[in-house]
Amino acid sequence: MTGPGGVSIVLVRGDITAQSADAIVNAANSSLLGGGGVDGAIHRRGGPEILADCRRLRASHYGKGLPTGRAVATTAGRLDARWVIHTVGPVWQRDEDRSELLASCYRESLRLAGELGARTVAFPAISTGVYGWPLEDGARVAVRAVREAAGAGGAGGVEEVRFVLFDDEAYRAFEGVVG
Ligand code: APR
Repeated sequence: MTGPGGVSIVLVRGDITAQSADAIVNAANSSLLGGGGVDGAIHRRGGPEILADCRRLRASHYGKGLPTGRAVATTAGRLDARWVIHTVGPVWQRDEDRSELLASCYRESLRLAGELGARTVAFPAISTGVYGWPLEDGARVAVRAVREAAGAGGAGGVEEVRFVLFDDEAYRAFEGVVG
């Protein structure tokens, strides 16, 4: 189903590192030097070239690390993709609404994917793992951010945004929002 800005939103249940897409988005941390979850899986399966690119980014533009809500692109290494887009999600805080920072992850990643010339972009459910964001709210923020960015022309030539959900609970959370 094609939505705002001609971008279709697709839900997939599976491992994002097994996806074939122009851009695969990583739920990174600000160090850009790897971690667990999606980050660990992408570096493991994508191979050392990705980390080498991340190190170059740290040495050149991001000496203090990538700020939360921002996005950068590297090679996809051995993944079936042209780029990995690394973005840093906010850690869930009960007493502070960081939704705008989470929305920025999707908006900035989508903008960068469009600038690179990507047609298909695969996202994980950013911040909903180690960073503790409740799945339903994380799904709501994600889908709204993508729809708003696409509707405002912020997706460039991107035609498909694919949310790749690692378990049934996450899939159901996104299904409940996308409808
Ligand atoms: N494919 C798709 N989704 C995955 C995969 C995978 N291979 N592995 C985990 N996930 C899901 C998780 O189940 C969760 O729903 O991705 C979502 C995000 O979880 P995390 O990877 O823990 O990312 P996040 O919550 O944003 O925390 C980021 O964790 O791994 C570290 O270095 C990373 O410090 C950073 C933090």
